[in-house]
Amino acid sequence: MNVLMVVSECAPFIKTGGLADVAGALPSALATHDISCRTLMPAYPALKPLLAKGKEVAVLKDLPGGNARVVAVKAKGIDLLLLDQPDLYDREGGPYTSAQGKDWDDNHIRFAALAMAGTRISADGINGWRPEIAHAHDWQAALLPVYLKQLNITDVKSVLTIHNIAFQGRFGPHVLGALGLRQDWFHPEALEYYGDLGFLKAGLTMADQITTVSPTYAREILTPAFGAGLEGVLSARSHRLTGILNGIDLDVWNPATDDALQATYDARSLKRKAKTRAAIARRLGLSAKCDGPLFCVVSRLTEQKGLDILLEAVPHLVAKGGQLAVLGSGDPVLEQGFERAAKQFAGQVGTFIGYDEAFSHELQGGSDAILIPSRFEPCGLTQLYGLRYGTLPVVSQTGGLADTVVDANVAALNAGVATGFKVYDLTADGLRGTLDRVFDVYQSPKRWQSMQRAAMKNAFDWDASAQDYADVYKALHA
Ligand code: ADP
Ligand code: GLC
Repeated sequence: MNVLMVVSECAPFIKTGGLADVAGALPSALATHDISCRTLMPAYPALKPLLAKGKEVAVLKDLPGGNARVVAVKAKGIDLLLLDQPDLYDREGGPYTSAQGKDWDDNHIRFAALAMAGTRISADGINGWRPEIAHAHDWQAALLPVYLKQLNITDVKSVLTIHNIAFQGRFGPHVLGALGLRQDWFHPEALEYYGDLGFLKAGLTMADQITTVSPTYAREILTPAFGAGLEGVLSARSHRLTGILNGIDLDVWNPATDDALQATYDARSLKRKAKTRAAIARRLGLSAKCDGPLFCVVSRLTEQKGLDILLEAVPHLVAKGGQLAVLGSGDPVLEQGFERAAKQFAGQVGTFIGYDEAFSHELQGGSDAILIPSRFEPCGLTQLYGLRYGTLPVVSQTGGLADTVVDANVAALNAGVATGFKVYDLTADGLRGTLDRVFDVYQSPKRWQSMQRAAMKNAFDWDASAQDYADVYKALHA
């Protein structure tokens, strides 16, 4: 079966978060289920070297924003179709924002063009290849099911995956014409979202199947607390909604082979983590003489991730004898908060503001625990990397965090199945209470190591989830 992935970022080529990791790993996981994928994505500046190596396979006329070339190239095992339209995508800055962090003001055109390109490829095929399934990811690709319906293409079925419902692609109604959308569909059962055009909303009403990235999040988004205004739309289509947990790429995230670590290790050589911890300490100015656990954060610094709550609990973490290493960027208030904490607790707290892939691996390899107190978390990948690296996740009880971490309660500890720690009351007090439990277990190296081993055994690879996607695709063509 052929599947066209339509996505706005894909690791290792361009990444702002977990979406890229998923887009980068899913095609090879699906290949073992006899599914052949092509991945359509914009040719941002980071893709230029590949663009030069690739072969032009189509010119798509009159997309929103103008004509665009499609260039096919295989890289890192992924069959990429690069959408080359320099006016839209060849700009310095991020995929969605300028270097100053402001959304590009033509994002509606940029991502409608992506969805329309996916639709044309679905309709006509490309280079002799045609998909049976068009799989759109997040709001940036969410007009794909809409254009498929509008052009009356019924033999290609659409799947829309929600990676984060907080981002919806909402634009004023005046953009409708520029995007070539049917004016008579501008009503609440189709394109309209409270007087605006909602990309995600529109896609959710028309996709043949909707998936999201964990079973718990699939339930949560049906409620007002998590649905971000789309709970009604989703409830009406809940028979078409399933939660499929993300997996991780076991080759990219493997402590036994990871070049970014000072010393590679496995479940029998956990002591070797100390070498990487020492390197982290040198880089962030942390004291080398610390018997307590090293906690890390690797995260976008946003409201979603609950790190304001962590900031409140930092004095407690330090008073108990722990250290904290933070890698992240985003909200300036949070950036400043962690920089201030690093000054206030020099030697115990270290902060690096920025994006650094290699350092993210190093933190997973050298820390004892990773903190993820998210307010909501569709799946979350950093806790999965933590499990694989024996870096115990300290997580809130939501979304994919709830589904993937076994809390170290007495029963789980006694049964040897605990893999992390849950914050059940997501307040500074609640987090301090959970930290106390972390310190208690850390006191007993035997118990800590037994948790690390349980965590490492519990790796969430793509096997089961790729099977679930394959089943979804096949059911649509049954
Ligand atoms: P989200 O997609 O909501 O940001 P995930 O946990 O699914 O959260 O994925 C985040 C991904 O981005 C992980 O691969 C994580 O290691 C990476 N990441 C986040 N912030 C940084 C950073 N500052 N530097 C390097 N990698 C980062
Ligand atoms: C989103 C979510 C994150 C998820 C990722 C990949 O960015 O915030 O929880 O892991 O997408 O699906």
